[in-house]
Amino acid sequence: SNMDSMPDMDMGGHAGHDMGATAQAALPEGEALRALPLLANEAGRPGLFKARLTAEPATARFGADKDTPILAYNGTSPGPLIEAYEGDRVEITFANRIEGEPSTIHWHGMPVPADQDGNPMDPVAAGADRVYAFDLPEGSAGSYWYHPHPHGRTAEQVYRGLAGAFVVKAKADPVPAAYGDTALMFTDLRLAADGSMPDNTMIDMMNGRVGDHVLVNGQKNPKLAVAAGAKRRLRLYNATNARFLRLAFANASMTVIGSDGGLLEAPVAADELLLSPAERVELVVAFDRPGTATLTTLRYDRGWMGPGRPTDAGLTLLTVGVSETPAEAMPPLPERLRPIAPLGAPAVSRRLVLTESMTMNAASMGMDFLINGKAFDMGRVDFVARAGDIELWEIVNQADMDHPFHIHGTQFQVVERERDGNVAKPPYLAWKDTVNVARRETVRLLTRQERPGARMYHCHILEHEQLGMMGIVDVRA
Ligand code: C2O
Ligand code: CU
Ligand code: CU
Repeated sequence: SNMDSMPDMDMGGHAGHDMGATAQAALPEGEALRALPLLANEAGRPGLFKARLTAEPATARFGADKDTPILAYNGTSPGPLIEAYEGDRVEITFANRIEGEPSTIHWHGMPVPADQDGNPMDPVAAGADRVYAFDLPEGSAGSYWYHPHPHGRTAEQVYRGLAGAFVVKAKADPVPAAYGDTALMFTDLRLAADGSMPDNTMIDMMNGRVGDHVLVNGQKNPKLAVAAGAKRRLRLYNATNARFLRLAFANASMTVIGSDGGLLEAPVAADELLLSPAERVELVVAFDRPGTATLTTLRYDRGWMGPGRPTDAGLTLLTVGVSETPAEAMPPLPERLRPIAPLGAPAVSRRLVLTESMTMNAASMGMDFLINGKAFDMGRVDFVARAGDIELWEIVNQADMDHPFHIHGTQFQVVERERDGNVAKPPYLAWKDTVNVARRETVRLLTRQERPGARMYHCHILEHEQLGMMGIVDVRA
C-alpha cells in the first residue's frame, strides 16, 4: 500500500484534541490584524505584473519566546498577497531555495496554461529558478491562491508555511470601494512546546493534518477595529491542509457576494457557511451594533478515523471591535453583481468514485485513498477530454469522510447534490474550483477545460492527495 513508503510514521495522535499526549504551545491572541504583505509589481508599465517569489526556510515567532522553523515565500507566511487586474500579463520568477526538495507553484483556480500551472510533472529542483507566465483573461476576477504541488511533498510544504493569496481584480467592480477589500487567509498550526512543528503522524495521514491553532493571516484570533455601521468586504481563504471551517459571525450580518471564481449574480444573506479546505468565499459583513463582533466556528462532523476527532465548536477566529462612533454612510451593495451564464448540455458524462480503505493490524498497515479504484500515477492518463467540451462529472463519495474535490485550470458549476436519495439543487449559480463532497454524498457538476494539456483533479485534503486521491485528465485540442 501507499503507507509502505512511510516507515517512520508514528501512530500517535496529537496535541489539542482528546489525545493530549504532546505538550502544546500557547499563542498570544488579540493583536491587531496584520494585512497580508503585498507583492510589489516590478514591471513599471501597465498591463504587466512581474515579480519574484522565493520559497525558502525562515523562522516565525508564534509563541512568546521560541523561534519556529518554517517555509516561507519571500520570508513571510502566509506568502505575499498578489494583486493583479483582468487583462494583465503575469510573469513570476520562482526561486526554489528549499534545501534538498523540489517544489512548484500551482496557481489554484486560475485559468493558466497547463505547462505553467506548477503540476507535479513539472518540478523545479532545489536551487533552480523558473518563470511562470500567463495572461489573466477578461472576466477572471476572483479570489485565487498559490501553493506548492511537488509529487509527494505538497502536504508538508503547505503546512510548513507555503501558501499565498492571489486576487484578480475587475476593471469595473460593482462592490463599493468604501467597503475596503481584506483578504483573510486561514491556516492551521500545530506547535510543540519547544517551538517546532511536529511531523505528520499516521492519524494525520488518514484524516489530513488538523493542528492546534487556526490562524488568520498568521495570527491567532487577531483584532480588527471598525466603526458602527461599517460594511467590510472580506475574502476568506481556507488554506489549511484538512480543516473544515463552519463559520458564523456573532453581532454582525454576513452576505455572500462571491465564491472561488469571483462574484455571484446577486448577494445572498447567510447565517453561516461551510468553507472546506481550499475553498474561498467573498463576503460583505455589516457591523451595525457597537460592541464586539466575532467570527467563530460551529461544530461540523467531517468524518474521522482513529483518536483525536476535532469538533471545532466555538473557536473564535477573529474579534472585531465596533466603536460607538458611527461610520461614514456606506453606499448600498448593488442588487445585481454580474451575470453568470449557466454551462449548457454536457457532451460527455463521467463518474468518479472516491473510496478509502484502511487495514491495520499487528502485522501490516495499509491505507489507500482512491478514485475509481486507483491511486495516482504520474505516468497514467485517467481521462481524455476535448478542449471546449462541456462535461458532466458525477463525484460519488463512498467513503466515511468528506473529501473536498478540486479540478485544476478551470471553474465549474455545481448542478446537483444527492444524499440518501434526496436530490438538491444549489441555491444559486456560482463559479467553483473546489466543492466539498460530504461522506456518502454525490455531487454533479458541469465543467469545461478551454485549453489542451494535462490537468490534475484531486481531494484537497492534502494528505489524501499525497496518498493517491488524485488523477489526470488529458485535454486535447
Ligand atoms: Cu490547490 Cu492541485 O491544488
Ligand atoms: Cu489547484
Ligand atoms: Cu480526501
